[in-house]
Amino acid sequence: MNVREHLLALTDELRRLKGEGGRTVVATDASVEQLRRAVASVRDELAQQSTGDRAPVAVVNAVEAEEAGAKTYSFAPQPQPTRAAPPPPTVAPITAPLPVVALPEGDKQTQMTYLRALVEQNETCRAHLRPGKQLVMGVGSLDADIFFCGEAPGAEEELQGEPFVGPAGQLLTKMIQGMGLQREDVYIGNIMNWRPEMPVGAGGEQIGNRAPTKAEMEFCLPFLRAQLAIVRPKIIVTLGATATAGLLGADSFRALGDVRGRWHEFDAIPLMVTYHPSYILRNQSLRSKRQIWEDLLQVMERAGRPISERQRGFFLS
Ligand code: URA
Repeated sequence: MNVREHLLALTDELRRLKGEGGRTVVATDASVEQLRRAVASVRDELAQQSTGDRAPVAVVNAVEAEEAGAKTYSFAPQPQPTRAAPPPPTVAPITAPLPVVALPEGDKQTQMTYLRALVEQNETCRAHLRPGKQLVMGVGSLDADIFFCGEAPGAEEELQGEPFVGPAGQLLTKMIQGMGLQREDVYIGNIMNWRPEMPVGAGGEQIGNRAPTKAEMEFCLPFLRAQLAIVRPKIIVTLGATATAGLLGADSFRALGDVRGRWHEFDAIPLMVTYHPSYILRNQSLRSKRQIWEDLLQVMERAGRPISERQRGFFLS
C-alpha cells in the first residue's frame, strides 16, 4: 500500500471507531507528527493531480481536532477541512426483491453447495462485483457450535473469496486459537456477500471501505439466515456494530458499548456481541483486549468449552 492508501485505510478505521461509539483516539506526539506529514504529502499529491478524488478527510479532521501537545484526539467537534469535503459515494439503490431461499432436502453439505451457487448466480450480488473480484460466502465447519458474523468483505476477502483473511481476519484467527479452537472448527460469515463499493483510485482499485447501507444488509440477510439454518450453531458472535445492527436491528442500540459483552438472541439462537477485531488492531490497549477476551470467555462457557486457568488470565497483565 502507498501512503495515500494507508491514510484512507486509517480514515475508514476512524469512521468505524466513531460508528461504534468511540469519541476519542489516543496517539503519541511522534505519530501525530508523522501523520501530519503524510497528510500534507498526500494533499500536495492530490493538488498536483487535481483528480477530485476522495481525500483523507477524517484523518485530517482527527489530526487537527486537538492541539499538537494533546494526547487524546477527539472526533467532535471537528474543524472544517481546508478542502471541500468530497461527496459521499453514491450507492445505487437496490431495486430487486429480497432473495427467497428454499433449501433443498439433503445433508448440510448439499444445502451449502446449493446456497453458494444461489449467491453466486444472484444478479444483484453479481452486479456489485468488480472485474476479478469474488462474492464471499461463509467458511468453516458446518457442524460448528460457534458462528462468528462480521460486516462485509474487504480488499483481501473479495480477492480470495473468503471472509476474514486480511489483517482483521488474521487477528480473528488468533482469537479463535486462544479459545483452543482452529478456524476450521467454527463458522465465519459476514452480513454482506459483496464488498460495498467505494470510488476507485487511479489504478482502478477500490480504495477504502464503507459500511453497508440498510438496504444492502437487508438484501443479503436471507443468505446469512440460510447459513445459520444449515449450520444450526449453539451461539452467534457478532463482531462490531454493523454486524450487530444487521442481526439485532440498528435501532436496538445507540453505541456498541451498550450491548457488548451481553447475551441477546437472533432467531432463538443466543448471540454475544463483541468488538470487531479491527478495533483491537487500532486500539492495542490491554483493556480492550481483555474486554473482547471476556466476551469470548462467556462464549466458551456457554458452548461448554473447557477453560484453563491460563486462558482465564489472558490480558490481565
Ligand atoms: N471485516 C469483516 O467484517 N469481514 C471480513 O470478512 C473482513 C473484514
